[in-house]
Amino acid sequence: MNQLFLKKPSRLSITILALQYFSDESNSTLADLVGGNLTARPMWFIQIEDDPQYRVLGFNDPSTIEEADAMINPSDDTPCPSRLGHFPDWQYLLREVYNLYRFSSAGGSPSIRSHQKEVRHRLSRLLNDDPPINKIHASEKPVCSHLSRALDIGVSHPTASLSRAIERIRGQLLWEFGYGKVPAGLINKYAFSEFMGPKGIIVSKELILGLVLFAPGTTYPTHSHQGITESYFCLNGAISENDVGVYAPGSLILNPPNHPHRITTSDREPSLLAYAWVGPTENLTNQKMVFNRQPR
Ligand SMILES: [Fe+2]
Repeated sequence: MNQLFLKKPSRLSITILALQYFSDESNSTLADLVGGNLTARPMWFIQIEDDPQYRVLGFNDPSTIEEADAMINPSDDTPCPSRLGHFPDWQYLLREVYNLYRFSSAGGSPSIRSHQKEVRHRLSRLLNDDPPINKIHASEKPVCSHLSRALDIGVSHPTASLSRAIERIRGQLLWEFGYGKVPAGLINKYAFSEFMGPKGIIVSKELILGLVLFAPGTTYPTHSHQGITESYFCLNGAISENDVGVYAPGSLILNPPNHPHRITTSDREPSLLAYAWVGPTENLTNQKMVFNRQPR
């Protein structure tokens, strides 16, 4: 395995594990790896120990080039970009999500285990990168009147530490409908908040993380996600999907790409779900939220 270390600055702390992983997997040279897998990633400033040939591996995103250049050659009038490292509550939230995907059971399912691992890998890379933080424009929807109750119930379940971490940042969340035309029956009963992703507060092109909140007695119509694998973690209340199972707090539901699914919630309590979307950057960036024309 190649021994790698970051030259400077430490804030460009990426991919040591990923590089080692790729090296182990493919048994390729680093040049091969950079020419293949790693050029898809945004920012590299790496040196191989005792091998200056590969000191700068390159950048492939213009905004990243400018930002990296400002970090490497700082000047007094260079504004310091907002980074995840400046927001501990958001870091703790992401670590709680990581733990959820690390310690929850896959129930013996290889595809669920593989998804959990993929979310962890992408999240781990992001935490190492210390990603940018977008300016926060918090906004609520009517269903947010149920959020306190959802979090209150959530602290008595195995996912309590995540519910507490959400409580810390709830005032910074941007809640949305996501649909051009929201069904009238959903306006007071549903909203989601994508806190990490291409358009999230925490910028990531590799992974979308968010929350979706349902009022009691909600039916969220059949929908699917093109080219994206989705998982829902139930944090409180009880939900069912496609009328084939009831999911209590701590349960995970995996929806493969293009899989139609419909969510219903219990009559008495709201349900807060944490979700993750994994897929190619293009699909994560351009995903359109639409309900299926013929609900199942
Ligand atoms: Fe979904």
